[in-house]
Amino acid sequence: MSNHSPFELAKSDSWLRWRDRKLSQAPASLNELLVEIDDPRTISASEHQAVLERCRRSNMAIYVSALGGEEGTYIPRAVGMRFGCNNINHNRGAEEDAVTALTVQDDQLHAPYIPYTNKEIHWHTDGYYNRLDLQNYSNLLHCVRPAMEGGENGLMDHEMAYLLMREESTDYVRALMREDAMVIPNHVVDGEELRPERVGPVFMVTAAGNLHMRYTMRKRNIVWNQDPLVQEAVAWLEQLLKSDCEHIFHATLQSGWGLISNNVLHDRSTFEDGDDPASKRLLYRARYYDRIHCT
Ligand SMILES: [Fe+2]
Repeated sequence: MSNHSPFELAKSDSWLRWRDRKLSQAPASLNELLVEIDDPRTISASEHQAVLERCRRSNMAIYVSALGGEEGTYIPRAVGMRFGCNNINHNRGAEEDAVTALTVQDDQLHAPYIPYTNKEIHWHTDGYYNRLDLQNYSNLLHCVRPAMEGGENGLMDHEMAYLLMREESTDYVRALMREDAMVIPNHVVDGEELRPERVGPVFMVTAAGNLHMRYTMRKRNIVWNQDPLVQEAVAWLEQLLKSDCEHIFHATLQSGWGLISNNVLHDRSTFEDGDDPASKRLLYRARYYDRIHCT
């Protein structure tokens, strides 16, 4: 971390400058994050700029297009490539091109995983359980069909969560930057270890100098460090995410809409599909090892 990094914890001018700019440019409502685009498969230069402008301010943008209803994982792949995201994270349950079709699936491969159910998903960032050198720095959602009811996403810029925590207590931030802040137990299916136990921080600064966050509010998937400061910081963060903080936004993606983000904090409310199987909620999700270059 360079001395000029705003994320250096010794109180510095660069932190104060970064903080003030972040607060003064923060979106006041979800509307400020929406960008109308004609066709997500062929995003124009001005649409591209408009998305980057939102990402610069809050690490996310929601595009609103009239493409609705069209299926095809090439849609999110095209969006990702337009933003320089080429290194996609393959995961179990994904389609052949590593895009994941998020829809209710009750087969053996998908059913144990909460994204393929209609249940609520608590606050998290994607891929927190990945190796530290293979983190998801960006992700995309593209909505083909929303649910009949529900399926709303809560969204919070992880940099804003960091900022508010640092304003509350630098010690909390320091505790969550500990390399042993949390342990994610190994993942075993049918006696086979699919992922080893992983230990790591919540907040980390990448080699490129960007702030990255690894987090889940799920209790089952995580063992927090017993250090009282880590415990307090985690409790404070949980309270923040459950609050009506003005920097938390709520959006229900509609047909043809999509979320482009530098893996910000998000959750999903429970949802109900209609009776017609052809009308089931369908969102595509792509997670990348690349960050959207917006600075
Ligand atoms: Fe997620």
